[in-house]
Amino acid sequence: MKALILVGGFGTRLRPLTLSVPKPLVDFANKPMILHQIEALKEVGVTEVVLAINYQPEVMLNFLKEFEPKLGIKITCSQETEPLGTAGPLALARDKLVDGSGEPFFVLNSDVISEYPFTELVNFHKSHGGEVTIMVTKVDEPSKYGVVVMEEETRRVERFVEKPKIFVGNKINAGIYLLNPSVLDRIELRPTSIEKEVFPKIASDQKLYAMDLPGFWMDIGQPKDYVTGLGLYLNSLRKKSPSKLAFGPHMIGNVLVHESASIGEGCLIGPDVAIGPGCVVESGVRLSRCTVMRGARIKNHSCISSSIIGWHSTVGQWARIENMTILGEDVHVGDEVYTNGGVVLPHKEIKSDILKPEIVM
Ligand SMILES: *[C@@H]1O[C@H](CO)[C@@H](O)[C@H](O)[C@H]1NC(C)=O
Ligand SMILES: *[C@@H]1O[C@H](CO)[C@@H](O)[C@H](O)[C@H]1NC(C)=O
Repeated sequence: MKALILVGGFGTRLRPLTLSVPKPLVDFANKPMILHQIEALKEVGVTEVVLAINYQPEVMLNFLKEFEPKLGIKITCSQETEPLGTAGPLALARDKLVDGSGEPFFVLNSDVISEYPFTELVNFHKSHGGEVTIMVTKVDEPSKYGVVVMEEETRRVERFVEKPKIFVGNKINAGIYLLNPSVLDRIELRPTSIEKEVFPKIASDQKLYAMDLPGFWMDIGQPKDYVTGLGLYLNSLRKKSPSKLAFGPHMIGNVLVHESASIGEGCLIGPDVAIGPGCVVESGVRLSRCTVMRGARIKNHSCISSSIIGWHSTVGQWARIENMTILGEDVHVGDEVYTNGGVVLPHKEIKSDILKPEIVM
């Protein structure tokens, strides 16, 4: 089977991290976001993944060339010369997706994390005989999303309602699909939306079905959701492979520590923390709801909560970093500095306090 991952966009919402690498390569739980998806696809028997991207294909390809042999899966890029929306890239990659086997193919949105229950998706798809299966997830505030209205018993989708003002249901499109090759005959090579143009037509032909996505779901395309998503991911990891999490008297809740990271004396870490490869967390440090990326150093007695520390950054002694502070790559925060929601561009040095959320250029 094959899969297309829609990368799309420039990752503006994840700046300053995306100033250093393309969005799919930003680490999430100690590995590039896109590897979570590629590994899950491999597990269900996908042999080729096509990345639909519109910028920096060289950076992506160089990186993935390294992973292709490790993962044993073919990875190619399909580059748009103009943004083609969420459906156009399928038409562009048509020749890569269709191989004459008639097998359905996956389409994933690169920002979405979940448990990727692809086996269940394939089984459900084969059971209903429609052209498309989309996964749906339940949300608390459906009025902010596009709601999928379906017939409860058959799971056939009747219609889509964009940001409904009155309650029509609480299931939304989770950005994970399985499509028959015949769907490609419905898509033209021009900027189009799969959600707004292609799916509604297939639904009106009664060929579109929805499956409830079991487990968690999060679109981690912006920092607040990234931090929340890490908590959901680690919670799911605890159920599936608890031995991957750190444990001990200094750990609270779910904490992921890379084997090459070092942690000093008297720290208190967790819940919902990921510490990446080669990181050094010195003594007496307090970390909660945060990600510390590869090569970062957190010095004695500093305290970090609800924040992201970019690659190779350092945080000084007694510093306090909180409220969605995002340090880009190679940022250095001085001793005793306080940052409240600072978004700091790569290679900066922060010597004085950032008292309220702002971007530091
Ligand atoms: C940090 O703490 C450790 C352990 O208490 C100590 O050995 C080290 O000297 C401290 N580092 C600095 C720069 O004070
Ligand atoms: C935290 O950040 C939000 C916006 O990002 C802001 O509205 C809020 O005032 C900040 N909290 C504090 C305590 O400053």
